[in-house]
Amino acid sequence: MLNKEEEIQLSYIEKLKEIVKEKKNKLNRDLTCQVTTFGCQMNARDSEKLLGILKEAGFKETDSDDADFVIYNTCTVRDNANQRVYGRLGALKPKKAINKEMRIALCGCMTQEKSVIDKLKKSYNFVDLIFGTHNLYSFPELLYRMYTEKEPIVEIWDKTDVIAENLPVDRKYPFKSGINIMFGCNNFCTYCIVPYVRGRERSREASEIIAEIERLSKEGVSEVMLLGQNVNSYGKNLKEPVSFAELLRRVEKIEGIRRIRFMTSHPKDLSDELIEVMKSSDKICKHLHLPLQSGSSRILKAMNRVYDKEKYLDLALKIRREIPDISITTDIIVGFPGETAADVDETIDVINKVNFDNAFTFIYSKRTGTPAAAMENQVSEEEVKVNFDRVLLAVQESAKKQLGRFKGQTVEVLCEGMNEQDDSFVDGRMSQNVIVHFKGDPSMIGRYFDVKLTDFHGFYYTGEIVSER
Ligand code: SAH
Ligand code: SF4
Ligand code: F3S
Repeated sequence: MLNKEEEIQLSYIEKLKEIVKEKKNKLNRDLTCQVTTFGCQMNARDSEKLLGILKEAGFKETDSDDADFVIYNTCTVRDNANQRVYGRLGALKPKKAINKEMRIALCGCMTQEKSVIDKLKKSYNFVDLIFGTHNLYSFPELLYRMYTEKEPIVEIWDKTDVIAENLPVDRKYPFKSGINIMFGCNNFCTYCIVPYVRGRERSREASEIIAEIERLSKEGVSEVMLLGQNVNSYGKNLKEPVSFAELLRRVEKIEGIRRIRFMTSHPKDLSDELIEVMKSSDKICKHLHLPLQSGSSRILKAMNRVYDKEKYLDLALKIRREIPDISITTDIIVGFPGETAADVDETIDVINKVNFDNAFTFIYSKRTGTPAAAMENQVSEEEVKVNFDRVLLAVQESAKKQLGRFKGQTVEVLCEGMNEQDDSFVDGRMSQNVIVHFKGDPSMIGRYFDVKLTDFHGFYYTGEIVSER
């Protein structure tokens, strides 16, 4: 069933089809589009929607920067993501001068910041369309306006109640898909800009999520990734509250779904019920991304993470005990205001005790408008660099030690694509989210195999097929 907003947007896609057809006739060639994604899985999912709408309207996808319609779906979680977007935009300007048909659009988290909009208007006035995270669903309408109005379109909302998930989507993989189960974030970690650019937390109705996954399963999807900034608080604001663990139980029952993943779990809300469900399930993957951010209780308090070092350790070690073959990965920030070498020692202590299977380590980036940006004790660049290298080393050692433990075992691997270096090999993924290379051909993509892990290469395995599952 379509809601009213979805119907409106579909009618704009019809109007766009006419525009694209006319242009094609005039130019005597296809109209091309390029969608570039920065940032997290949620942005990746949003980009599949953008591409789905563009293709439905008649555009042909290209990976060249010379496309007739170029859109950047941006991220602003750290400043380097923003700088990359400005760099790419600058390089587009001369291309637009050559291709008169070229239109440039920007959406995503960066555009929700007023300072960004001011800068774009001043220094990047060749951008034709700018919209934000809350009105992404109205992309067909905005695109139509861009092609029919004279002035550039800048439309940013500060919130929305609409959920429109039934518009065209062009999935990157036929056999796996992300699914939004919630939007926004209410946690306000003091360093983080996400709550300001993605708005307040809202969960989708469980029945809608189940219906979407059932549809995906019929289309051939066997692996789903449930997406939210803090999936453990899923369902709390629904009229009839549903816990995340309960949602997982319902997803598990869907025929054709063989693997279930989710991101991201905030340690403060991870329930025993969830551990139970994960433990007893054959479909929920043995992988948990559990961001630590810091191992120092003092810094965690200043970050407003609501747990301390002991609580994190208790939780992570309980999970390791209950589900021994699970892989636990994490995010760590180095250089939060006031962080000393002693605080970093605490972080390294947690790394050594939990033995993370992998970790993303980030240098703290000051985000305007967040409480941490106004803290006085910002750490010097030199100090951050020394501490960052120490953390990175600890993470690499822990990952190497931890991931190597599967060597010699025969495990289930989903074949995801051809190997880029050697086309007699395919790349697959274990339940633990570890990559395996093995002999194969394109017909195997999307299928499941038992693979014997013969060699470990630091962060991936090579293996030999035993049989198909
Ligand atoms: N909702 C997720 C995180 C989303 S952002 C969670 O809370 O776990 C992904 C990661 O970016 C965070 O885990 C954090 O490690 C990092 N990050 C967020 N803000 C940052 C900042 N200002 N500087 C550096 N890293 C940051
Ligand atoms: Fe940012 Fe914290 Fe929300 Fe994650 S939980 S998105 S780090 S505010
Ligand atoms: Fe970046 Fe927005 Fe995701 S800021 S990390 S793209 S929610």
